[in-house]
Amino acid sequence: MSKTILVTGATGNIASLVIPDLIKNGMNVRAMLRDVSKGEALKEQGAEVVEGDFDDKQKLGNNLEGADSVLAITPPNPNATSQGSNILNAAKEAGVSFYLRISALGAAADAPTDNGRLHIQSDEELMNSGIAYTILRPHFFMQNMFASVDSIKNEGKFYMGMGEGKLGMIDVRDIADCCVSILTNGDHKNKIYTPTGPESIPFSKAAEIIGSTIGKEVNYVPVPLEAVRKAILDMGWGEWGAQIMVDYSNAYASGWGDFTTNDVETITGKMARSFRQFVDDVFSPALVS
Ligand SMILES: NC(=O)c1ccc[n+]([C@@H]2O[C@H](COP(=O)([O-])OP(=O)(O)OC[C@H]3O[C@@H](n4cnc5c(N)ncnc54)[C@H](OP(=O)(O)O)[C@@H]3O)[C@@H](O)[C@H]2O)c1
Repeated sequence: MSKTILVTGATGNIASLVIPDLIKNGMNVRAMLRDVSKGEALKEQGAEVVEGDFDDKQKLGNNLEGADSVLAITPPNPNATSQGSNILNAAKEAGVSFYLRISALGAAADAPTDNGRLHIQSDEELMNSGIAYTILRPHFFMQNMFASVDSIKNEGKFYMGMGEGKLGMIDVRDIADCCVSILTNGDHKNKIYTPTGPESIPFSKAAEIIGSTIGKEVNYVPVPLEAVRKAILDMGWGEWGAQIMVDYSNAYASGWGDFTTNDVETITGKMARSFRQFVDDVFSPALVS
């Protein structure tokens, strides 16, 4: 009998790539959405769409009934730890046998961002839960570049506060491939991985790669942390979101993210995609449309 997997964060960056591949691999996917009217495409792909909210324990319990596994993804937010607890407790009560959790790079009690300090609490709660688990702590998503589409199109520039810091950033397609591999093969139990891309590059190099692909000069403009704060506040992310972006920028500028791992290859058997592959396949179409 095929396994049933509850996927949270189902409309998000990672899950929207994982769900179709799980279905292709013969899994029953139960995709949890706050607003089920966003679930038409997921239904067409073959997912069962259920309504739920991380803050609604009753619905979480109902949605986990009969599920074998969970892919738990919560967005960065100040309530992430209690949301993580709610999913985990509902999974325990439902007798779920495997739990895959998306955490954050460098999750630790002394992490440079509140996001990392909240994620470690959920990671530890899962590790002590008695449920078999895998935790992924991915590097900076290449797909975060989509926030700069307009400025690249209009000005040939993008603005970030990471100085010349190098990052082993990762294509979300590789995180999704890791999730699918872990959930379908049943390997990697009780392990924590830090998936990264294959190279660590500064954003000046990223700009060069984007420019050479679209045939137009593209420049990275490093900005002070106060400009990062203002830009994030202007985007409506609020004070907590602005502070974590300031803290991440500061950490990356100081070289905190300057490393790569072989974790994508260890999990999927394939090399992680390069930034150039990301630009060729995913990013450049958004810049020329
Ligand atoms: N971005 C990075 O560079 C990076 C790097 C490493 C780790 N991470 C981690 O990756 C995770 C985010 O993954 P992602 O980017 O795939 O997700 P995402 O695109 O941020 O999507 C978040 C998902 O959560 C859903 N959601 C929000 N609040 C909810 C609630 N109260 N109840 C139920 N669902 C709710 C959203 O649904 P709606 O459609 O209803 O809004 C959406 O599907 C975070 O934990 C972050 O720390 C990110």
